[in-house]
Amino acid sequence: MLSVVIPVDYPRKMPIPLLDLKPQYAKIRGEILRVTEEVYDSQAFILGTRVEAFERDFAAYCRSKHAVGVSSGTDALLIALMVLGVGPGDEVIVPAYSFFATAGVVARLGATPVFVDIDLTDYNIDVTEIEKHISRRTKAIMPVHLFGQCADMNRMDFGIPIVEDAAQAVGAEFEGKRAGSMGAIGCFSFFPSKNLGAFGDAGAVTTNDDALAAKLIDFRVHGMRPKYFHHYVGGNFRIDALQAAILHVKLPYLDTWTEGRRRNAAIYNELLSGGQAILPVQLPGRKHIYNQYVIRFKEGRDRVMAHLKSAGIGCEIYYPRTLPQQECFSYLKCGRFPNAEAAAEQSLAVPIYPELTREQIEEVAREIKRGLK
Ligand SMILES: Cc1ncc(COP(=O)(O)O)c(C=O)c1O
Repeated sequence: MLSVVIPVDYPRKMPIPLLDLKPQYAKIRGEILRVTEEVYDSQAFILGTRVEAFERDFAAYCRSKHAVGVSSGTDALLIALMVLGVGPGDEVIVPAYSFFATAGVVARLGATPVFVDIDLTDYNIDVTEIEKHISRRTKAIMPVHLFGQCADMNRMDFGIPIVEDAAQAVGAEFEGKRAGSMGAIGCFSFFPSKNLGAFGDAGAVTTNDDALAAKLIDFRVHGMRPKYFHHYVGGNFRIDALQAAILHVKLPYLDTWTEGRRRNAAIYNELLSGGQAILPVQLPGRKHIYNQYVIRFKEGRDRVMAHLKSAGIGCEIYYPRTLPQQECFSYLKCGRFPNAEAAAEQSLAVPIYPELTREQIEEVAREIKRGLK
């Protein structure tokens, strides 16, 4: 007689990654393969009608007059500061807590990033702190809509151009306005893990200003207009036709995916409220799109993280160091940023992608609680 040995931990739990892009791809695979085949057949890979079509629809989605596709989110920030003329001797105000590129592009242009602490409620720049950091040299203010929730855009009017780092915030709203449509220039990343992700690196800049839009288009191709006549020193910041075609397929699905993220966030909020985890707060007048779902623990973050990893649940610290703490910025000697440091020491992102099931979210929540014991 055959005997079946059932392992004691049967049924084995499936790992829950921080992000799984395969279920999203499975739903749109046919459409993606069709448009990529069209690009291959056309053998037209750089800019062109597919890029223009995506730019038109992306601008409309962001409720912005213009969108210009670029090579990455980092290049979106870089080109935005370049067209505003940021250079050596200038200062740009940035939050002390963000992905490195926010401050990296400022330093790359020979300007100085001036860090401002964040508000721990939404992890965004503390607008009450901005004014005291403004000087005669301040050329731009760069709020970041971190994790998918807009910074307080009402209190940033100092007569200085605002460059929105909306890399994590496609579709996020502030009082009915979309991320990227409120400042002089909005900057987006389509890195594959973003809520609107390409199949490689890509990004975009948005603006309502016709003159800035024309400049952005020229700077994307070495400041050139017409061909081989260069008015500015720009760069090669072009987006590929392939990426634009793929993003154009994905864009109509984005609202459904965002609803999935928001539904999942609501489930976590329900399951984790009243516990030790400090949950993300959607502030009044905002629409959070939960590019990340980030929780915070006054104590025990690393213990929870180790426990989740051993239980096969993906999680990540965004970000383990503040920007002023990065070695490459030590020359700035800019002091302490208590809220940014608390976020770096206490925060943890857990899976939030739209295709997660309620059961998976329940399992993550259960393991978070176990990890705290
Ligand atoms: C806040 C923020 N700014 C800028 C970037 C840079 O975007 P990319 O990776 O597309 O260059 C990212 C991407 O991780 C980001 O999260």
